[in-house]
Amino acid sequence: MEQTQTPVRKQRILSGIQPTGTPTLGNYIGAMRNWKLLEDEYDCLYMVADLHTITVRQEPAKFRQNAMQMLGLLLASGLDPKKSVLFFQSHVHQHAELAWLLDCYTYMGEMSRMTQFKDKSAKHADNINCGLFTYPVLMAGDILLYQANLVPVGKDQTQHLEICRDIAQRVNGLYGNVFTIPEGYYSKVGARVQSLQDPARKMSKSDAEDSFISVLDTPDVIRRKYRRAVTDSLASIRFDPENQPGVSNLLSIISALTGEDMEKVVASFEGKGYGDLKAAVTDVTIETLAPIQAEFARVMKDKKYMEEVYREGAQRAGAIAERTLQKLMKKIGYVAK
Ligand code: TRP
Repeated sequence: MEQTQTPVRKQRILSGIQPTGTPTLGNYIGAMRNWKLLEDEYDCLYMVADLHTITVRQEPAKFRQNAMQMLGLLLASGLDPKKSVLFFQSHVHQHAELAWLLDCYTYMGEMSRMTQFKDKSAKHADNINCGLFTYPVLMAGDILLYQANLVPVGKDQTQHLEICRDIAQRVNGLYGNVFTIPEGYYSKVGARVQSLQDPARKMSKSDAEDSFISVLDTPDVIRRKYRRAVTDSLASIRFDPENQPGVSNLLSIISALTGEDMEKVVASFEGKGYGDLKAAVTDVTIETLAPIQAEFARVMKDKKYMEEVYREGAQRAGAIAERTLQKLMKKIGYVAK
């Protein structure tokens, strides 16, 4: 007897990255690079989260440039637009619409407890706008629109993912099964990359130039930044983030970029000094970034291709998003179009 096989539907992944300037090596290791690894196994949608970005004032020309640059970097880091759906969040109008609907199912109290809101309103005390406050609702909508099963996020976003699940469960409780409840996806190779100047802190592009590597830094700049990176006076190469945070950070970067486990990396430095460690991390960083930078330069010149990618992405994303939006609107009781 012949057996017909029902095709197994791939699990869906949705993630977003804000276009707030050139990403750091930490963003690359922690996010962009992992997105590519998921492309074959999952049904992936990746967006440039440009609606979120205006919670902080942006200079229009720079903002537009940053958004294109981010798309260029996603392509340059190897994402294949035939496999993954790549798009600008602002091109899929359903994001803003769902955010409004979900606002009405979210409580002031829940939003006020978000640590990122507290941090950001302290940092931008002159512009504590409502968007900053409802940011997690927009993000919840991003995820729920696509019925995503998994959401690759960094640690700083787990609270947002939690609130997304709460909102989804609340809506499902009221109207039946509207949304898939998403789970966080935390990559196995989730090396944390710390500041080169203050290794107790996460590497961040809002800190001083010398404290981070940007994915578009030239070899000379990379060399200089690592040369100035903080180590210690213990003169021993061991992975011990507590007592040797600077040295351990450089070791982590090597391990993340070569894919070798830490033990092996540490062993390779037996009898060697900090100069050798810095030379090694410099080499592997330059080697990793060179092909990305070359591809980035190529793709950014091909405006027509970029346009094709983001238009098709918005179309594919929009079709999925519209289904979810209509489903919810019908349940709420809106008159059908
Ligand atoms: N808020 C995320 C960040 O700043 C970006 C983001 C927006 C996102 N929408 C998302 C991430 C949906 C995952 C899923 O990093």
